[in-house]
Amino acid sequence: MLDVFEEGKVYEVLLVTESNVTPVGVVRNGEKLKFKLFPGKSFREVLEIGKASIQLTNDPELLVRTALNLPVELEFEEQKDYRWVRGLPGVYGDVTSKVERWKDDLGETEVLICELAPKGIIGGRLPLRPFSRADCILVEMAVLFTRYLVTPREDLKEKILELYSIYRHLGGMSSVSNYMVSFLTKKNQNER
Ligand SMILES: Cc1cc2nc3c(=O)[nH]c(=O)nc-3n(C[C@H](O)[C@H](O)[C@H](O)COP(=O)(O)O)c2cc1C
Repeated sequence: MLDVFEEGKVYEVLLVTESNVTPVGVVRNGEKLKFKLFPGKSFREVLEIGKASIQLTNDPELLVRTALNLPVELEFEEQKDYRWVRGLPGVYGDVTSKVERWKDDLGETEVLICELAPKGIIGGRLPLRPFSRADCILVEMAVLFTRYLVTPREDLKEKILELYSIYRHLGGMSSVSNYMVSFLTKKNQNER
């Protein structure tokens, strides 16, 4: 299963923990998948429980909606201490982690540096979905948006709005994109 991940390349996947599903960027390192969690529910659950599933999706809406904690229709399956989304291929296993200080241009925080060692394979199939640049842009908007929620910087907002215009130009019409844009523009009105 890990063969589908090229070593060193970042893949956007779903991380399923005891009570949460969120997108994370993982990098394969040999027989392990590495990722980094900023403070939040997944951070806490991985640190406390140390068990998770990593699942593939080619659905940009799913990545974005789970990042923004918007409603999604998912069914789950469980096996002992692990659970995962029914139908999506992936792996489950134990996560070793360590808390580190993290400093970047958005400030200083704690991060959980994680490594999942697969214990079992989760069967599933991805639906046929043609590649769309609009989908890539929607995902990028959401990455910046989750950063904006932590640090509401003007340059992040501008970048998201810029991406939104490219997204629309490419025919993207997701309601989640409108959600992000109205959040940003309403906030702007409140500040005036
Ligand atoms: C495509 C994508 C990839 C993301 N990757 C990560 C990641 O690797 N680590 C992380 O902490 N947050 C990542 N995020 C942001 C989280 O999804 C978001 O902050 C979420 O609310 C995490 O909080 P939670 O654990 O409380 O659900 C990503 C968001 C998107 C849209």
